[in-house]
Amino acid sequence: MELIEAIEKLKKERNAVILAHNYQIPEVQDIADFIGDSLGLSIEAAKTEADVIVFCGVYFMAETAKILSPDKMVIIPDPKAGCPMADMITGEQLRALKVQHPRAKVLCYVNTTAEVKAECDLCCTSANAVRMVSEVLKDEEEIIFVPDQYLADFVSEKTGRSFILWRGYCPTHAKILPEQIMALKEKHPMAAVVAHPECPRPVRHLADQVLSTEGMCRWIAAKGPKEIIVATELGIIHRLQRENPGKVFYPVSDRALCPNMKLTTLEKVLWSLEDMKHPIEVPEDIADRARASIERMLHHKD
Ligand code: 13P
Ligand code: SF4
Repeated sequence: MELIEAIEKLKKERNAVILAHNYQIPEVQDIADFIGDSLGLSIEAAKTEADVIVFCGVYFMAETAKILSPDKMVIIPDPKAGCPMADMITGEQLRALKVQHPRAKVLCYVNTTAEVKAECDLCCTSANAVRMVSEVLKDEEEIIFVPDQYLADFVSEKTGRSFILWRGYCPTHAKILPEQIMALKEKHPMAAVVAHPECPRPVRHLADQVLSTEGMCRWIAAKGPKEIIVATELGIIHRLQRENPGKVFYPVSDRALCPNMKLTTLEKVLWSLEDMKHPIEVPEDIADRARASIERMLHHKD
């Protein structure tokens, strides 16, 4: 309680807002001003009136917030909270791929570093990747899609387009196995299966709905049956349970934990507000180019 009061008090003094991803630990989700998926968090970061954004998520998310709000102070409670998938492609590797395919447009998943985003034409999240390909890039002959091979495969299946791929993946979602889903379906035949598009194809094909984390929350609240088998990172169960007290959730794998998402604790949130640490800095030229690819995504309304 004391910790929460101290955070609330400092938050007011600093005119700060706390943004948290759906995979954060329950205590952090509970003190956040806004909880969401990567898309929701970037929209919130772009429109907030606060002077300081405390970003409870992984580094690329805080970096995206800083790129969208360069005049604000964006702090991350633990700067070691990286995303291994985002680190699977470097700016140099993407530049080399572009040299091999000079006519291709480059689409990057938001799970990338600022340097990689700066090399891209368009950004996407798991919530809008299909739409970005079928609407914004519909007339392009060649598309490079980095770094998630499984999200790319999901979009290929939905749109019929093929991509020049990068073989990145999320190590947490790779721990979710189809046989585990089959076993749960047998035990709970009335349950619906929701899966994140970062899951490999055999897992996605067992799902009734393939959605971003926010998409899952929305679909389950509006249309989900009483029992749901959840094929994504375990942190989302807290929010699902809180928002749907009458429903029962079966996580597919107790190994589907993103260790980086769990690095943020209430203590670290408090320290970050006390010491204004750790500020995110993105070199201006990289931020300007990365912003163009993110804003193209955010401003597309067709
Ligand atoms: P969402 O944008 O669906 O929340 O996913 C982010 C992420 O990192 C999933 O692993
Ligand atoms: Fe990255 Fe996977 Fe963790 Fe999401 S769950 S932040 S993609 S490692």
